[in-house]
Amino acid sequence: MLIFAGNSNLALGKKVARELGLTLSELEIHTFPDNENRVRVIDKVVGKDCIVVQSTGISPNLYYMELFFILDSLKRSGAKSVTLVIPYLGYQRQDHIFRSGESVSLEVIINLLSELKVDWAISLDLHSLKIEEFFKLHKIRISHVSALSIFADKIREMKLKGYVLVSPDMGGIRRIKQVSKMLDNASFISLEKNRDFKSGKIKTEKFEGRVQKNAIIIDDVISSGQTLISAAKILRESGAENIYVMATHGIFSGNAPQNLEESIIKKVIVSDTLEIPMDRKFAKLEIVSISRLISKTLNE
Ligand code: R5P
Repeated sequence: MLIFAGNSNLALGKKVARELGLTLSELEIHTFPDNENRVRVIDKVVGKDCIVVQSTGISPNLYYMELFFILDSLKRSGAKSVTLVIPYLGYQRQDHIFRSGESVSLEVIINLLSELKVDWAISLDLHSLKIEEFFKLHKIRISHVSALSIFADKIREMKLKGYVLVSPDMGGIRRIKQVSKMLDNASFISLEKNRDFKSGKIKTEKFEGRVQKNAIIIDDVISSGQTLISAAKILRESGAENIYVMATHGIFSGNAPQNLEESIIKKVIVSDTLEIPMDRKFAKLEIVSISRLISKTLNE
């Protein structure tokens, strides 16, 4: 078995390789002055099972193109099978048509992965359950792994005296119920979020249930951070003193690092599905690793 990693999250690729008792196989990724890429597999892959680790994050277009060329070069060079570890599957939030005339970007991505003959895909905390169905429709085996158990462990370690779990929107209710179950039916509430599709502005509104001194917001993705900052505001107005955030994928686009650091949120915990450059890390940020979840899944 051989394991390769694109440039999006080399640190995670190396960790997973180490846990599998392997080292990363060599890829030549050359970028031309016009930003086009040329990808070449160096090791002999004929008849071998190959794993590719590539995430997307803040530069989905760049890293998807790189991934497509890696997949193509493996198949052309005779790989027997290709398993794609795509910890964060970019473009997944556009999983249906929200307004007439839109493209369903998620479906475009899965079509391409299928064309490029991915046999098995492993991804973390997908935005909706129907995403798994898309993979199955394209005859790609999919393993949907979750970082929620790591967050539940973190919450136990925090030994907070009374807390409520919070979903920042109705779409996250399934997720919050799962964590509640892991924590002996901890109490939870769900906020109601509305996003203006044109401006992208977020408004968080009412919820039912009681807020406690400690509130832990759990989400799948942090991009601009607006969802969390808006949720934290309403929680504070409702009596929460300490507001914590846990999310699987930390994209942290634009001014998110600064805005979260300056917000009333006490701590932001994300996983390493995406590599966060040093200059975008901030004091309140803590990163936990999902590498063991991935290596365990690969060994199944
Ligand atoms: C939305 O439904 C997702 O679960 C996240 O809440 C959202 O994508 C976060 O985006 P942002 O950080 O830009 O508000």
